[in-house]
Amino acid sequence: MSTPGLIFFAAVGFAMLLPGMLTAAALVEDAVATAPDPLVLGDGTRVTTPEQWRERRRPELLEIFRQNMYGRAPARPAAFVWEVFDEDTHALGGKATRRQVALYPNGRDHGPRVDLLLYLPNQVTGPAPTFLTLNFWGNHAVTADPGVRITTSWMESSAKPYADLSGVTNGQATAACRGVNARQWPIETILARGYGFATMYRGDIAPDKFDHWTNALHAAFPEFQGRGDNFTTIGAWAWGLSRAMDYLQTDRRVDARKVAVFGWSRLGKTSLWAGANDERFALVISHESGAGGAKLFRHGVGENIERLNSVFPHWFCGNFRQFNNRDKEMPFDQHMLISLIAPRPVYVASAAEDLHADPTGEFLSARLADPVYRLLGTPGLPVTEWPPVSHPVMGQIGYHVRPGKHDVETYDWEQYLTFADRHFHGATAPTVGGK
Ligand code: GCU
Repeated sequence: MSTPGLIFFAAVGFAMLLPGMLTAAALVEDAVATAPDPLVLGDGTRVTTPEQWRERRRPELLEIFRQNMYGRAPARPAAFVWEVFDEDTHALGGKATRRQVALYPNGRDHGPRVDLLLYLPNQVTGPAPTFLTLNFWGNHAVTADPGVRITTSWMESSAKPYADLSGVTNGQATAACRGVNARQWPIETILARGYGFATMYRGDIAPDKFDHWTNALHAAFPEFQGRGDNFTTIGAWAWGLSRAMDYLQTDRRVDARKVAVFGWSRLGKTSLWAGANDERFALVISHESGAGGAKLFRHGVGENIERLNSVFPHWFCGNFRQFNNRDKEMPFDQHMLISLIAPRPVYVASAAEDLHADPTGEFLSARLADPVYRLLGTPGLPVTEWPPVSHPVMGQIGYHVRPGKHDVETYDWEQYLTFADRHFHGATAPTVGGK
């Protein structure tokens, strides 16, 4: 076909597509215009005071997310005990004190056993502010430290996008897995900056597979299954973070009023839900959490609800299925989840090539949570437009998009440490573009 002919066909094709297509700007406008207002109660009353937010709207929204998405979780069990089974005051070449704590949420005899690995900076004499994290591949994978106990919980052995786990045999990690994921965890930098570092393996709490919620922690709470608002896998992981917090509050080397909870991807969805539920988390980091995390569903870009519920049917509760293919009609959306963390600092981060997680949608939720942060007397998010790559913005809400793929990079941790410094060691005026 001649060039003019091609242009003609392209033009006709484009014109035919046009009615159903929205430009990127129109998608954003549409999402912002239709997003439910976090500051309007279910009965239509406008929330105008911090008291109304605290006493009425916050509990109402929490209940909406429990009932429809993340499910309901049990209270802290009376049987919950822990045991500090390891301490090395000269870990990591003398820079840290390592502690390992076995958490037994359902008592020592009934499983599961969840190991909390904790490093505390030896140069800090008082209690240290601490990052609490969940990891994908076991505590032994975040560091090559030979003192770390290798988990006996089930470990996926299929090919991994995240790390080479060739050391997994029959669902069990082996010594060959030590340190395989260390590049995502700059533990020595975190310690040198005066922070403690704590981590747990997601699979110690609940396996990341659809087992009808019958193993590990879920096995202890059968009464929370067989219902639309059932105890989910993301719910269990978040619940595990709260049990870790129970321990951290008793550790005199930890400043439990300054615990930042961090998670990447599915574990970023989890850190947001943990932070929404448990106000003991002083700062919350959502790293590339995408759909079911920070991404605004009604933006309609990237992974959708139907995919989440079909590929990962264990993450969310039965009631969430009613929203399959209704991403733009959701009566609630993820900016409301971020609002539940207010007024505590929250940081949302994206990667430019992580289109599955919809970087713009992640930013939009942060932006639409801003009115709640401002009502509660904080500076909120210092910008209204999506910042360019590598231009972090930091108010009470922080945000950055960095170049590259779905991953955790040193650049990301540098921003989180700066953000934590600001909030834990005397915040300064909001910054835009890292200045
Ligand atoms: C998949 C999934 C995402 C999730 C990600 C991860 O890509 O679709 O929702 O965030 O896994 O956890 O790495």
